[in-house]
Amino acid sequence: MALPTKRLLYVCLLTVVLYVCFNLDPFKGGPFIFKKNSGQFLQLPNINCRQNPPFLLLLVTSAPQQMMARTAIRETWGREQEVRGKQVRTFFLLGTTASEDEMMAVAQENRQHGDIIQKDFKDVYFNLTLKTMMGMEWIHRFCPQVAFVMKTDTDMFINVKYLTELLLKKNRTVGFFTGYLKPKDLPIRNKFSKWYVSQFEYPWSKYPPFCSGTAYVFSSDVASQVYNISESVPFIKLEDVFVGLCLAKLGIQPEELHSQQTFFPGGLSFSACRFRKLVACHFIKSQDLRVYWQALEDSKEEDCRDV
Ligand SMILES: *[C@@H]1O[C@H](CO)[C@@H](O)[C@H](O)[C@H]1NC(C)=O
Ligand SMILES: *[C@@H]1O[C@H](CO)[C@@H](O)[C@H](O)[C@H]1NC(C)=O
Ligand SMILES: *[C@@H]1O[C@H](CO)[C@@H](O)[C@H](O)[C@H]1NC(C)=O
Repeated sequence: MALPTKRLLYVCLLTVVLYVCFNLDPFKGGPFIFKKNSGQFLQLPNINCRQNPPFLLLLVTSAPQQMMARTAIRETWGREQEVRGKQVRTFFLLGTTASEDEMMAVAQENRQHGDIIQKDFKDVYFNLTLKTMMGMEWIHRFCPQVAFVMKTDTDMFINVKYLTELLLKKNRTVGFFTGYLKPKDLPIRNKFSKWYVSQFEYPWSKYPPFCSGTAYVFSSDVASQVYNISESVPFIKLEDVFVGLCLAKLGIQPEELHSQQTFFPGGLSFSACRFRKLVACHFIKSQDLRVYWQALEDSKEEDCRDV
């Protein structure tokens, strides 16, 4: 009898080791599915899209504590409200914090500026997909009349004028999705990476085509379609990949906005002429935002001809 007992013990031990090493927790249940109607809106921006639909809405993911960064954006690229006779608005996407003071500060900020969209989910990096989907839901429910939407982040420089001009030139109305294209990215399986994704969360070896989450732009019908299909797509905490999965299921292919590169998720050193001809640049600190903005305002387009 000794041998089978030993063997059984060995099998048990091996199983435990496997579960621990490969994170094959049998009690985890099925993959998480995004629930469309979960949570309620706590803050809404001051806009009536039915009466006066904007051409372009910029939705900026931001944490409740990042008030300084929001102020810098409101004083720079978020200030643009009319480009070539088209209405443009910038709103911020926020989750909640446990601090009552911070929640009250957000409510006060929205009373003052009317530019905050907030729902009751915990504002943490790994809830970015929920935040993005809140933006999609808000467009779908409150502003389907807008022509285009950009989803971007607080550490970005956005050239709203150039973006508007390129969108007008492109002249697309439905099924349009653009940004910095990532056609063939692979899941990162290194546990120490910020973008680590386990086999459990994403068992496939390739990602669908998607656009860098730093800044992407789409026609507003895409928001409704993505929101609509989001429940039937496996949830992943990388929001740009999640949107890519939705697009793949919808048969919408991300495409280039311009023949030249205009989205810079890896950042770019500043020059007024360079920043005149880009749409989005990553890794911009709030204090630099003001400096660059002023330099752009002060410079003349004529001086850039030889670039
Ligand atoms: C995301 O938000 C939900 C709802 O507030 C919360 O239950 C969950 O713990 C959050 N996720 C993370 C990773 O903290
Ligand atoms: C935009 O496209 C529509 C048809 O899709 C066309 O009728 C219109 O003339 C185009 N406008 C410009 C400015 O190219
Ligand atoms: C949402 O999906 C349903 C079925 O999946 C479809 O009938 C409906 O047209 C979709 N709505 C939008 C706005 O795409």
